[in-house]
Amino acid sequence: MRHLRKRYYDAFAGYYDRFVAFHSRDARDGLRSFLSGRVPVQEGDFVLDICTGTGTLLGFLRQKVGPTGLVVGLDFSPGMLKVCKMKVGKHADIALLQSDAARLPFKDNCFSALTCSHAFYELKGKTQQQMLREAARVLKPGKPLFIMEHDLPENPLIRMLLYIRLLSMGTRQAVTTLRHEKEVLQKHFAHVEKVTTPGRRSKIMVCRN
Ligand SMILES: C[S@@+](CC[C@H](N)C(=O)[O-])C[C@H]1O[C@@H](n2cnc3c(N)ncnc32)[C@H](O)[C@@H]1O
Repeated sequence: MRHLRKRYYDAFAGYYDRFVAFHSRDARDGLRSFLSGRVPVQEGDFVLDICTGTGTLLGFLRQKVGPTGLVVGLDFSPGMLKVCKMKVGKHADIALLQSDAARLPFKDNCFSALTCSHAFYELKGKTQQQMLREAARVLKPGKPLFIMEHDLPENPLIRMLLYIRLLSMGTRQAVTTLRHEKEVLQKHFAHVEKVTTPGRRSKIMVCRN
């Protein structure tokens, strides 16, 4: 099943950036730039972008941690990582890793911040909870995980369309997560705060222990 999902993302990889620009009306990556602007890291810090996809966030994060820092982009889809590699180019301070979000191959307490943009709701089955547990483990104490997602649309018709899209991806629990998000995140993080993005179509959940 996981294999099929990877194939789905592999097939989508070549079109993904154009889809995002059209769907989010965000041709200039404004949302990812906004998210990166809120990540409180300094030169020399290590940051992990979980489910990095085509890696749009990596370039923004790299500017923040500078040449002595490290930005890691993790994804389970070789297709997405291939597009990501072509897009970000070769840099000593960016590492790409093919791995599952449910098992982060890092030591405890090693990152100064984690990001996960527009992917959390798409994690299937137990993976959502496993990813949160792993995120809490690899973060340094007090450091944040930023989860950016579509916010619940106020228009009932558009809200229904969002539910249908999530259900059509086979992520039934995404709908439950959407409705009880804070409770889901608070199982692993003591402090959870919501930030609305400009345009109010997306939101960022900032989680820390
Ligand atoms: C909608 S894309 C988001 C990409 C990127 N973060 C962004 O903001 O555009 C979702 C990504 O999550 C990845 N993904 C889904 N399930 C995963 C898992 N269990 N482990 C690692 N990556 C996963 C997919 O391969 C895909 O690249």
